Amino acid sequence: MSYPYQILSEEQYKEVYQFSIEKPEEFWASVAKHFTWKKKWEKVLEWNFKDPDVKWFKGAKLNITENCLDRWALTQPNTPAIIWESNDPEEHHRVLTYQELLFKVSQFANVLKNNGVKKGDRVCIYMPMVPELAIAVLACARVGAVHSVIFGGFSAQSIADRMRDARCEVVITADGAFRGNKEVPLKNVIDDALLQSPDVRRVIVLTRNRTPVSMIKGRDVWWEDEIRKVETMGNPFFPAEEMDAEDMLFILYTSGSTGKPKGVVHTCAGYMVFANYSFVNVFQYKPGDVYFCTADIGWITGHSYIVYGPLSAGATTLMFEGIPTWPDAGRFWDIVDKFRVNILYTAPTAIRSLMGFGDSYVADKDLSSLKVLGSVGEPINEEAWHWFHKNIGKEKCPIVDTWWQTETGGIMISNLAGITPAKPAHATLPLPGIQPVLVDENGNRIEGSDAASGILPADIISGNLCIQFPWPGIIRTTYGDHERCRQTYFSAYEDKYFTGDGCFRDTDGNYRITGRVDDVLNVSGHRIGTAEVENAINMHTDVVESAVVGYPHDIKGQGIYGFVVYSGSNSDLNLVRQDINQTVSRLIGPIAKLDKIQFVSGLPKTRSGKIMRRILRKIAEGELENFGDISTLLDPDVVKQIAEARV
Ligand code: PRX
Repeated sequence: MSYPYQILSEEQYKEVYQFSIEKPEEFWASVAKHFTWKKKWEKVLEWNFKDPDVKWFKGAKLNITENCLDRWALTQPNTPAIIWESNDPEEHHRVLTYQELLFKVSQFANVLKNNGVKKGDRVCIYMPMVPELAIAVLACARVGAVHSVIFGGFSAQSIADRMRDARCEVVITADGAFRGNKEVPLKNVIDDALLQSPDVRRVIVLTRNRTPVSMIKGRDVWWEDEIRKVETMGNPFFPAEEMDAEDMLFILYTSGSTGKPKGVVHTCAGYMVFANYSFVNVFQYKPGDVYFCTADIGWITGHSYIVYGPLSAGATTLMFEGIPTWPDAGRFWDIVDKFRVNILYTAPTAIRSLMGFGDSYVADKDLSSLKVLGSVGEPINEEAWHWFHKNIGKEKCPIVDTWWQTETGGIMISNLAGITPAKPAHATLPLPGIQPVLVDENGNRIEGSDAASGILPADIISGNLCIQFPWPGIIRTTYGDHERCRQTYFSAYEDKYFTGDGCFRDTDGNYRITGRVDDVLNVSGHRIGTAEVENAINMHTDVVESAVVGYPHDIKGQGIYGFVVYSGSNSDLNLVRQDINQTVSRLIGPIAKLDKIQFVSGLPKTRSGKIMRRILRKIAEGELENFGDISTLLDPDVVKQIAEARV
């Protein structure tokens, strides 16, 4: 196994990059030809960003699971595909080879078929981080069903909203999940969600912690029983459904600046090629390497870099069920030591949290197998970068700082491990095929320090980050509402995809992404819309209105700060704060809980009723004067009151 499209030197990166923007279609075709196709494409790319309408590898037929499983089961059947480490360090780990994984995916694809799942159907998956989650995802892809994986930290209400939006009829879940020393009652949460989801006709329940669960006749079945039925069938091989290049592969919900999360849609061929290409090049995966991504499959990082990217490359991907701090803060390093992990991909929030426990949890672990470290999800601050580099990478492992989004499907801007230079806190350079541009608020392109244009002025520039040309992993639509996709990503700046991120570019063309410029928070690498949180707070019986902003948080990157106008009579304000957080937790999930709640008599609003968030952001950040011009406010005094009572 080798990857003919793996870039092996900085010089080659420059050449390939240049070629990729001069001849994008030829470039991507030269990558795509190394995959398994049932029928070759007629046209590499057809696109416009107006509608938007983007088609990659038009006319091609394929199934992504043949690329992730069958081809490797044939050429390297005994190579471990998935290594699984339990939440419980005492429970034996599991290894599934490519041959075994193909067998299990085939089996479960038959289960799906027996339960009436057909090509195009949407299937909701709400599961713990066990191999069966990857199996469920791949089995959906094998039968051509569209999976919508929902992260275990979302509430019943959020699940119901997402299931309704996608019109899911089938759910795959487990009785419960282990998370550190806690158990999470997944099936119970699903049962609550089902009260509001009349379309769901089948729930397949995997046994994990065997906590008592309700099972409803005619609707709920056990995973293991369904597998037993398939076992009596004889040969369980499930021929992969033929999919069109642009058939939907999955929906993944993500937060935006409005109250309602949107279902980002990715399609089969382009997503596959891009997830694979970025995996192979950014991490510089070499056959035999053990690769460990600490994300959850409920997020895009898990989709692209636990499941589809590594498996489509025939790699060994390590899946971890637990949390970094249990039984102690050395758990990641135990896993690296135990499995001789070569590549570790994690999040700045995890690094900062583990850093806070001190170096003693690292000291006695053998981390000498590590070759490459990666970071994703939010800007990595220099302190965390250096700690990671020194204590984990022992100053010999390149760190890839990978910038991308749910909507981009795969890594867009990153150094290539050991190939192109790293720069602390910088995502650095675009991958081949990616054409970033910086624009000012009027949409004017800010030229300079632009590797693509060859102009390198002396100053670092800053602007809003857009991408001016399609890449194969680009979002195709937002499920059920194409106009929303156009509005959100393609209307702010003509003929460009707008990322929502602000960014610097230095004189060498390195990008440093600074964070969202819209009303989206990034809390521990999780995207949360302020409007979503405000809607939830406002549902509390005694809340009149509220405004939510982010503020710098040492571990989470951003914390959530809420200003709440409360009209209730309870004088125990700490209890009220807990009630409000309970409400948010019910409606969105524990991940959206507020870190700080300040009760205020009113919010700073303009005469037209618009909340001046800029001022609230300053107060939350601890800047208690110099608010700029506040003369346009309806009641300027309110600002002083709020600043004085900051919590
Ligand atoms: O603000 C950027 C930040 O995370 C956002 C995307 O979030 P999500 O769709 O949940 O995907 C996270 C995993 C890819 C971006 O708009 N972000 C992601 N990676 C980085 C980053 N910010 C700075 N540096 C990064 N490496």
